[in-house]
Amino acid sequence: MCGISGAVGLNNITDELYQGIRNLEYRGYDSCGVALMDKKSLVIRKNTGGVEEFFRKENVLSLSSKIGIAHTRWATHGKVTRENTHPFTSCDGKFAVVHNGIISNFRPLKDKLTREGHKFDSETDTEVIPHLLEKYYKETKNIEQALRKVINVLEGTFALVFISPMAPGQIFCAKRESPLMLGIGDEAKYVGSDFNAFIDHTKNAVIIDDGEYAIVSRDSYVVKDFVTGQEIQKNITKIDWDSETTKKGGYPHYMLKEIYEQPQVVTNALEQDSKSLDELADMIFESEKMILVGVGTTYYVASYGNYIFSSLAGEFCPPISSDEFPSLANVDEKSLVLALSQSGETYDTLTALKYAKSQGAKTAAIVNVMGSAISRFVDKAILQGSGPEICVISTKAALSQMLILTLVALRVAVKKKVMTKKVFNASMAALHDLPGIIQSILNERSGFIHRIAHSYCKVRHWLYLGRGIYYPVALESALKMKEVAYVHAEGMPAGFLKHGTLAMIDQDIYSIVFIPPRSDKALYEATIHSVDEIRARSGFVLGIHFDERGKNKDLFSEELILPKVPPLIAPLIQMVIGQLFSYFTATSLKRNVDKPRSLAKSVTVG
Ligand code: F6R
Repeated sequence: MCGISGAVGLNNITDELYQGIRNLEYRGYDSCGVALMDKKSLVIRKNTGGVEEFFRKENVLSLSSKIGIAHTRWATHGKVTRENTHPFTSCDGKFAVVHNGIISNFRPLKDKLTREGHKFDSETDTEVIPHLLEKYYKETKNIEQALRKVINVLEGTFALVFISPMAPGQIFCAKRESPLMLGIGDEAKYVGSDFNAFIDHTKNAVIIDDGEYAIVSRDSYVVKDFVTGQEIQKNITKIDWDSETTKKGGYPHYMLKEIYEQPQVVTNALEQDSKSLDELADMIFESEKMILVGVGTTYYVASYGNYIFSSLAGEFCPPISSDEFPSLANVDEKSLVLALSQSGETYDTLTALKYAKSQGAKTAAIVNVMGSAISRFVDKAILQGSGPEICVISTKAALSQMLILTLVALRVAVKKKVMTKKVFNASMAALHDLPGIIQSILNERSGFIHRIAHSYCKVRHWLYLGRGIYYPVALESALKMKEVAYVHAEGMPAGFLKHGTLAMIDQDIYSIVFIPPRSDKALYEATIHSVDEIRARSGFVLGIHFDERGKNKDLFSEELILPKVPPLIAPLIQMVIGQLFSYFTATSLKRNVDKPRSLAKSVTVG
């Protein structure tokens, strides 16, 4: 989704603005623009395309300004054109505005402003904002009062930021439901839609809450309430991410880097504060029912969670895709809604949580981004500590969430007395082996997975099959393939195959089957049975399994053999294989791996 970066300092800030907006590229965008100040007038540059190309073509870095705002746009209202690119200015050229979110009443506002003589250049909802600022400034002769009047008439969601030559050292911003924060440096102050906008310069952040606006200058900042105009004392949040961890560090893509970070990410998850895990386990124990919510990858994490809670703790907790939650969920004071979200900003998931809270339900979340809307909204948040996930495709964050759900499920199982301490300890020991096993798989199997992915990269349709807990692994792995390689991949329970889909199996249909370890006897045999059904119809099967070489002679068309591991961690290892297979298919097809088309890192619109 759109990104905002702003800076005000003692010296030229164009470099900082460039770095800030580049760090937000991962959110996804299709055009870019900046507003700077030249003495007493605004300088606007904007165009479609990439940030680097835009800054080069428009010579932005050769300009000098002590204040500026930059924006990357993800088109919602209006096509991807220069005219629709932010910043937008008022008729008198006195206000330059960038905005994330959606102004839902922009049509009547635009009609009224047009009747009053304002001229519009774009099809966007945002453009009403500078014109409203101009209008209310004329009435009040005060920028802050004009801002409060504007906020009052805007419906919908916004993180809006603007500068004006009438206040040449100040950045004004306001927030309702779209993320916005300040970076508090010694030499400069920053505004951003997330920490990455200023992480290279300061680790001190002030998170702006809904209903607040801020006025930021080089030496100071003030945060106030929309309605009362009263000042609000805000805490400084220390960002515990290192700016180095947001760099590619020698990897060709963030996706690969983040897949390779998983041994460390798993270790971090295992080191979660046990008090916090116990608190969540208590909430689950005390609730009459629990629903898991997430969307896209996190919906599949939620589905994984259902299998884990059902099998370990006898706790059936249906997953619901966040966007479907209002149509499906029946929740009340005795319910707990547990959300999964990497960004902590996903509109659908936040909306589901709000709905749950409005019905009296307790809410909790496992979130990666500290200070995010979801982490602050819920009754109980667990910060997963996976470090910044820059690639638009989620990998390490999802794996970590699955692990944290497992840790909590084990605690609930002990509380419910459906698991002995001995089994609990053995399970924990298995989980502690996971980082080492993932590391050895990354070291020893990546080359082979690369070769297989390259050989089959021209396949246009894959079936991804798994039974039991391997079913959400199949679903998630299929999503990875679709979103990064743009190859059709359909995840399905392997047992579902014989209820219709088998009809289309022939030598042109390719399947990947996630096979459990042999020690999981019933699930193993049932899965192998599905493989037999496909092979009997001459279908191609890539089997990912834990058997010894030669044990399944002639069963698979291709096989990927994994080291023997306990059943508890086997599906997590299979998921890493699914990630690598999609990654190498995407690189073989020369896809834009870190910024695939039509997907944004945090989807903040409904
Ligand atoms: C998949 C992906 C998306 C997100 C989904 C939820 O790789 O990135 O499907 O999983 O948009 O995002 P978060 O986890 O930020 O709530």
